[in-house]
Amino acid sequence: MTNAQLMDLAKEARNMAYAPYSHFLVGAAILAEDGRVFTGCNVENASYGGTICAERTAAVKAVSEGCKSFKTIAVATSSGEWGAPCGLCRQFLYEFMPEGNVLMWDDAKGIKEMPLKELLPMGFRGEDIK
Ligand code: THU
Repeated sequence: MTNAQLMDLAKEARNMAYAPYSHFLVGAAILAEDGRVFTGCNVENASYGGTICAERTAAVKAVSEGCKSFKTIAVATSSGEWGAPCGLCRQFLYEFMPEGNVLMWDDAKGIKEMPLKELLPMGFRGEDIK
């Protein structure tokens, strides 16, 4: 699975976004260490706090299927510009891919790749609970 292929899956997943409130469509595709790929989209709720981001949808789908270790996550938003995961998603993903990378999409500039660690310096981990 190449970065470009993973990003194509994120863009496809974006079509499934349920975003009647923000109209901001987001798709994600997460590549597990075992080669499996899970996709997700944002799912909003009339009670706004119940909304789940595309990145966490993809990660939760994967974990619930037994995948707990990821290499890369691709994210594509409807803005056409690089959209980095929100802070909550960065921390959520850090649990399962502290050494992983995040791919973002811009219609003009293409893929930007960043280590999750750079997006979340000093992320909180289980071993920090003492
Ligand atoms: N959203 C995501 O899906 N991922 C992010 O990293 C940023 C925000 C969604 C949540 C909500 O449905 C909409 O974008 C606007 O915040």
